[in-house]
Amino acid sequence: MMSETIQKYYQTGNYQVLRQFKSKKNRVQLIEISAGQQVIRLIEKTFTEAVALKKELSMLNLLHEMAFSVPECLGQFDRVLLYEYLGGMTLCEKLEIAEVCEPDLFSGPVNRDSEITALLKKTIDWLNRLHQKTGLTFYDINLRNFIVRDNLIYAIDYEDFSKLKPAVDYGRLLAFILTYKPVFTEWKKALIRELEDYLNNEIKVNMDEVRHEKERELARISERRAKLV
Ligand SMILES: Nc1ncnc2c1ncn2[C@@H]1O[C@H](COP(=O)(O)OP(=O)(O)OP(=O)(O)O)[C@@H](O)[C@H]1O
Ligand SMILES: [Mg+2]
Repeated sequence: MMSETIQKYYQTGNYQVLRQFKSKKNRVQLIEISAGQQVIRLIEKTFTEAVALKKELSMLNLLHEMAFSVPECLGQFDRVLLYEYLGGMTLCEKLEIAEVCEPDLFSGPVNRDSEITALLKKTIDWLNRLHQKTGLTFYDINLRNFIVRDNLIYAIDYEDFSKLKPAVDYGRLLAFILTYKPVFTEWKKALIRELEDYLNNEIKVNMDEVRHEKERELARISERRAKLV
């Protein structure tokens, strides 16, 4: 469906809301437009702040030009961006399922090849390419900001891109993985060791910096959680 048709249907309220996603900052919904024989599902992201929309859009255009795997933007309004619906699962869901379905993954003498390790290494590669090509850090490394489709990692949510050290992204990634429920399991610690080896041997990032950033983020997370109790 052409994006003008999408915009026309959307602007006249000719769509249905199918579900709402979890979002801290904005409102994100899956919507469906029926235009004659054609049915199209889209993500509607309504921004609280207009400046956040502008930043997201300019980063999306930059990533798109550089051939990063990102969803296509199919409509743009004052406070709303319409995105191609990727389907698939978030990395957060993948992690949760892997720990339940493969509890013995890291307990043998040699680690088996696993989907979750491969996906997280691909996420590290995505971030490494971002650092190398743009000099920017992703910063908002929440595993719900990465979607897995056809074995490819798509990143969404570019509002918090900033100019920091690459180690910040990697340290935050490791801290987030460790603190999803159930937190700090032996399984997660073994996964982290494997990712740290990858960062050290393949990405060749300074691991003292990564571990420092990981500890800083763990401290922030525990502060945030203490406030919630
Ligand atoms: N193009 C897409 N295809 C499929 N699902 C998507 C897409 N965009 C967003 N989602 C879903 O919506 C959720 C929220 O999207 P996004 O992270 O862009 O919003 P946000 O307002 O920045 O959220 P938060 O503030 O919680 O980070 C994602 O975790 C994902 O589950
Ligand atoms: Mg998000």
